[in-house]
Amino acid sequence: MNTQALESTAQKMVADGKGLIAIDESIGTCNKRFAKLGIPQTEEVRRRYRELIVTTPDLSESISSAILFDETIRQRTNDGTPFAKALADEGIIPGIKVDVGAKPMAACPGEKVTEGLDGLRARLAEYAQMGARFAKWRAVFSIGDGTPSRACIEANAHALARYAALCQEAGLVPVVEPEVLMEGAHSLETCREVTENVLRRVFSELHSQRVRLEGLILKPNMVLPGLTCPTQETVDEVADATVKCLLRVVPAAVPGVTFLSGGQSGELASARLNAMNARFKSQLPWGLAFSFGRAIQQPTLEIWHGEQTNTKAAQQSLYHRAACNKAARRGEYDALMDHDETTLFRATSDIYAGSSR
Ligand code: 13P
Repeated sequence: MNTQALESTAQKMVADGKGLIAIDESIGTCNKRFAKLGIPQTEEVRRRYRELIVTTPDLSESISSAILFDETIRQRTNDGTPFAKALADEGIIPGIKVDVGAKPMAACPGEKVTEGLDGLRARLAEYAQMGARFAKWRAVFSIGDGTPSRACIEANAHALARYAALCQEAGLVPVVEPEVLMEGAHSLETCREVTENVLRRVFSELHSQRVRLEGLILKPNMVLPGLTCPTQETVDEVADATVKCLLRVVPAAVPGVTFLSGGQSGELASARLNAMNARFKSQLPWGLAFSFGRAIQQPTLEIWHGEQTNTKAAQQSLYHRAACNKAARRGEYDALMDHDETTLFRATSDIYAGSSR
């Protein structure tokens, strides 16, 4: 393992106020999102959509890294360039989702354990050869009556740690993603308690499996009230609870924390990330960044709608949402950025001046 290269990649992933974009939806998930908008669900249409993202002009101003899916890392742009190379040429680090999904867990009704360790060493070697420099593995925990169970937390934390050790052996930075889901009527305090327990266990397993903390990225959920909880805390209260939780359990050696969005709207995810950085940045040992999927992509997908003629407008939207999240890393995001059409127009027309794409 070249620890220096590993650590340098991890640092670059959260450097310069940038963050990650997750475009690693499985074929099934991508198809579901296409179906909702009446977009045809074929490999070629998925390729065109991912090409739109990969070739968005100047995306690297706000995005350091992109997480691809197995199908996507094997695809190419219209001019025959593999997506991983097209990203790297633009200064965006390509990465790859390597788990094979969260499957129902035996003896734990309603809970899931993420699979994908079998044969992982060989798959990582192949992805590294294709240009990936980091990987991602997601475990999910739902809050309910008696859940997440200790069995579910332990099994998923152990798998995350074994995945992370294999990644570092292969020279890939592991993005470790334990996600406490938003669905439910639980309170913010319950989410904080569960998230803290899960992260504590994850870092204990990472230590047991000899994973170098300096060479990994943590991708957690924000601490949020359940979607149907009658009390919905303010942006600042969410920021306080999230940072308080992370400070208790995330070691200072970790270079960066990149949140998933988990189904929050783009604006809310930006506002909450912004509040964390505005209020606490100077006190934090790690960068607080983003690794959003839906919170960056959703407007883009809706504008594109499967039509080639909408590509430019869709790319403008993607650039804009990425820029909003970069501003949130500095604590300088303002909801007006999303509503002031002059700002939006200026930002997006600037990037197209002189661009041939
Ligand atoms: P969302 O931001 O849409 O939750 O996606 C992030 C991700 O990578 C989920 O695994």
